[in-house]
Amino acid sequence: MPRIALIPGDGIGVEVVREARRVIEFVAEAEGIDFELVDWDLGADRFLRDGITVTDEEFRSLDEDHDAVLLGALGDPRVPSNQHAKDILLGMRVKLDLYLNFRPCVLLSPEFSPLKSAQPLRLEIFRENTEGEYTGMGGAIREGTPAEVAIEENIATRLGVERIVRAAFEFAESRGRSRVTLVDKANVMRYVGGLWRRVFAEIASEHPDIEADAMYVDAMAMDLVRRPERYQVLVASNLFGDIISDLAAEITGGIGMAPSANIHPGRNALFEPVHGSAPDIAGQGKANPVGAIRCVALMMDHFGFQEAGERIEAAAVASFTAGQTTPDLGGSLTTTETTTVIIDHLRSAYSARA
Ligand code: NAD
Ligand code: IPM
Ligand code: MN
Repeated sequence: MPRIALIPGDGIGVEVVREARRVIEFVAEAEGIDFELVDWDLGADRFLRDGITVTDEEFRSLDEDHDAVLLGALGDPRVPSNQHAKDILLGMRVKLDLYLNFRPCVLLSPEFSPLKSAQPLRLEIFRENTEGEYTGMGGAIREGTPAEVAIEENIATRLGVERIVRAAFEFAESRGRSRVTLVDKANVMRYVGGLWRRVFAEIASEHPDIEADAMYVDAMAMDLVRRPERYQVLVASNLFGDIISDLAAEITGGIGMAPSANIHPGRNALFEPVHGSAPDIAGQGKANPVGAIRCVALMMDHFGFQEAGERIEAAAVASFTAGQTTPDLGGSLTTTETTTVIIDHLRSAYSARA
């Protein structure tokens, strides 16, 4: 029986995980799958209350006692240092070695894109999730003085680069995608860029049927707006992957729509929408739950329930193509009403099967 830790976190994270839970419960019942859902109280409230972000024992338990984690978002204006988000979210990515951050951004209906001439799009981002500028290596001296020095190191290891590039090509190969593009800044970053380019070329040569090319991140930001249909699978470092995934999410329907999976194949997986805790709309019932619900689809796929994943995705698509959406997509439904509509679509699909 798959055991799933639910970490709503902060702000709209709490609202969207509540909705994702309803979808898990519905699908579990419809498919006859026994999921055990375990509620975890990690986030700003706990940090402010107890002074604890997350303990080593909790990391151990998340890793060893659970088959997956579903997280809402972490980030709260009452914690300006963002310490709890770094400890919990970046902590899990590193301690559970969830090196593969898969961020699919799919546009099925052109009217949901802010682009003038949008066509259906499928941008699948493979973001390296444990290295780059995210390791916390660095330091500062003479802080707060005119002579302050601050260093934030950019770490790239052969192992780290190789495993994410390999995952991108293997995905392209197995899912019939014809192109993989490396996103980097090798024109400036001689050492880190050089390593990525060499590893990318090596692994590309093992996949002669897949077109492989590279794009500087600034030009990629431009081209994703100009002609995104040129791209399919993108592979990038931690920071560049973070940035281009927000851009890709926005041009394919909005930040509220994109899911992500943080995976160490064969070990563990953490699913979270790409968006954050959105303090500007938290508590108002305006949050789009589709990113979180699509996380449930990715999770079903991860557990081998591929058809259930496809049904959830189809139900989400049916709801927004019928205009049954939250205000970010121009609709007038609340977070909960949107989920109810999606579950209704799911119910119809399952009863048509019966
Ligand atoms: P954000 O994604 O929270 O919000 C950006 C904008 O998008 C806001 O206008 C917000 O209202 C809107 N938005 C986001 N999700 C939406 C949804 N589901 N439905 C409708 N509108 C939505 O990014 P931010 O404002 O830069 O960050 C807020 C906090 O969240 C920060 O503390 C940040 O560090 C954190 N954050 C956490 C995660 C995570 O936990 N995975 C991801 C990104 C940001
Ligand atoms: C994301 C977020 C996180 C990141 C922050 C909240 C640490 O932006 O998951 O995309 O930068 O990875
Ligand atoms: Mn981000």
